[in-house]
Amino acid sequence: MRIAISTGGGDAPGLNAVIRAAVLSAVRRGWDVLGIMRGYAGLLGDDEVIPLTRESVQGIAHLGGTILRTTNRANPFQYPRSRPDGTLEEVDRSDELLKRVVDLGIDAIISIGGDGSLAIAQKLHGRGVKIVCVPKTIDNDVSGTLTTFGFDTAVNTAIEAIDKLHTTAESHDRVIVMEVMGRHTGFIALHSGVAGTADVILIPEIPYDIEKVCEKIRERDRTGRRFSIVVVAEGAFPVGGQFSVLGDSLPGQAVRVGGVADRLAREIQARTGKECRSLVLGHLQRGGMPTGFDRLLATRFGAAAVRAIADGRCGEMVALQPPNIVTIPLAEALREQKRVNPQHDVVTTARAIGISFGD
Ligand code: F6P
Repeated sequence: MRIAISTGGGDAPGLNAVIRAAVLSAVRRGWDVLGIMRGYAGLLGDDEVIPLTRESVQGIAHLGGTILRTTNRANPFQYPRSRPDGTLEEVDRSDELLKRVVDLGIDAIISIGGDGSLAIAQKLHGRGVKIVCVPKTIDNDVSGTLTTFGFDTAVNTAIEAIDKLHTTAESHDRVIVMEVMGRHTGFIALHSGVAGTADVILIPEIPYDIEKVCEKIRERDRTGRRFSIVVVAEGAFPVGGQFSVLGDSLPGQAVRVGGVADRLAREIQARTGKECRSLVLGHLQRGGMPTGFDRLLATRFGAAAVRAIADGRCGEMVALQPPNIVTIPLAEALREQKRVNPQHDVVTTARAIGISFGD
């Protein structure tokens, strides 16, 4: 039996712990394991395929990033290729990939990735590749699993930043707007904002009214709390408006969302007369050591993916449905993106303690 592991899309803390657990449990079954470098690029001649042994995964569980590297530009069905004039086009290289899988004697693939990787996996599965997915994204926007690994670490990074911002905001009587990741979903903003005791939380699921945001800040001023912390998901947008876009992305990549914190800080300052500052936490949220929760979840996911292959459950994704790790069909995981339910207890709790969602 020979399996291969690939990591695709944006990295998330815990990827190495998944790889380690999958390799160790596969090796203990007597299987061969290959690592596909940089998403599927390793199978398409743009990078390599390496053997993964017990030794290759020694001492990596606590490390951020991925020893297999990653990319969001190696979709075999829309693979970027340079034209003679230097511009890029997208071509379907899936036949080549399927041939390489057969040539390398790969019986099954473990694909660790977010919604993009899940969609690619579903197509490859439809073409006969035995594939099991492990859901990864700091955004926590994959359906069918209580959480993805990487989310808890990102939330903790954001909480640490909010804690630090509190003291400086309070010392200067300032409003500080902190932008966190979450292009379509506000899980990081919501969880870090509530745990970090933000005053305003803005998420894509609840479009905001800037005047309501300012009213919350003025109300705090009136009661002697002359500083405020606003946590905003990068994909948040005003009622009737659009999310902010930073600029063009490279061909084959999603549009770059961001810039909302700066826009909000200017608007709040103009409307309230209070001094405002903004910052974008950005890729700090994707780096660093995975938390204990993420390491444990990633390890459980890695071992569960190998069990799924052994049991013939391919075309499925491992998922946390407490207290168990289960597998669900890829189609189910892809049916809809998981988003914050505005009626969820965390939102209700936030409202109950006076946090404004700008609505
Ligand atoms: O998908 C996870 C995510 O963290 C998004 O929230 C964010 O918009 C995106 O990755 C940024 O990815 P990159 O800048 O690496 O392309």
